[in-house]
Amino acid sequence: MSFKTSSSPGKLMLFGEHAVVYGYPCIVTAVDQRMSVSARVADDKDVHIHAPDIGVREYQKPIAQLRMGEIPKAVAFIEAAVFRFFEKHPQHSGVYLTTASDFSSQFGFGSSSAVTVSCIHALAALFGVALTKKQLFQLCYQAVLDVQGVGSGFDLAAAIWGQTLYYVSPAKVVRPVHFDKAKLIIGYTGIKADTPTIVRMVQEKRSQSPKKIEGLFHNIMHIVEQAEAAINKEQWSVVGSLMNENQSILHELGVSSKELDVLITAAQKAGAYGAKLSGAGGGDCMIALCDDKHIANVEQAIQSAGGVALHANIHAKGVYSQ
Ligand code: MEV
Repeated sequence: MSFKTSSSPGKLMLFGEHAVVYGYPCIVTAVDQRMSVSARVADDKDVHIHAPDIGVREYQKPIAQLRMGEIPKAVAFIEAAVFRFFEKHPQHSGVYLTTASDFSSQFGFGSSSAVTVSCIHALAALFGVALTKKQLFQLCYQAVLDVQGVGSGFDLAAAIWGQTLYYVSPAKVVRPVHFDKAKLIIGYTGIKADTPTIVRMVQEKRSQSPKKIEGLFHNIMHIVEQAEAAINKEQWSVVGSLMNENQSILHELGVSSKELDVLITAAQKAGAYGAKLSGAGGGDCMIALCDDKHIANVEQAIQSAGGVALHANIHAKGVYSQ
């Protein structure tokens, strides 16, 4: 029986988190930890989801009842993705979906966005629906907003276009940045952050002190603009200083944490060009930019400071059919 499989990468935010939610630009790189979804036509009108990596076995629901009733957290993104696809492109049959993941959703590398993109990409391939990248983005973005209510969609852009991108939400601007030669070290704090909660906390601060927070976002925007130019010119010490500046603003915004600060300072002291948190903050990961000479030192410093140094290839390929 014929089936279609699509694979999408995870992401790491390089510059511009939080400000991107309010229309400012960010820079994101795709990470080669992938999530794949296989789709096969069913002989009933149900969606059957088998996602053993995220603890879902044999979940089944009529397409007509998607997004109704209790939805287990683990299937929320897949269910929303199937709903949005069938709403726009109705079909006569249901579908079997099976996921396979390279990465632990713990690290905040964007497994939800990768599964959403792979799911809609595989459904489009299975039912012969041609989607441009922008159309794929729009369906995925609706699905993510259905589940989370907030978000800039930068993670979906990384999963769809891949590599490294300058991004303005919602995919108003998506252009490549040449980050392929950089060496990035990732340090995991061991603390799982809840992105929507932190995004809402910043939203609250912005409504209480609009002038101050918009001022910080403006400063972040200038850093993003300079970082794009510096990355394209491979001026890594400039990029590193901009990371440090971006981190100071995120600290002022109140989204860093003691654990992140400790790992960031350790990486900076161990000879990284620069370091900052990556993503919403409050936990998850920090990133450090290094030259070859300092990689081992910086990794060691992150480990000694209580973090987990992770290896991941960045500038990964966007969604493709396997
Ligand atoms: C979270 O990884 C990045 C944020 O900017 C949220 C978003 O852009 O959706 C905080």
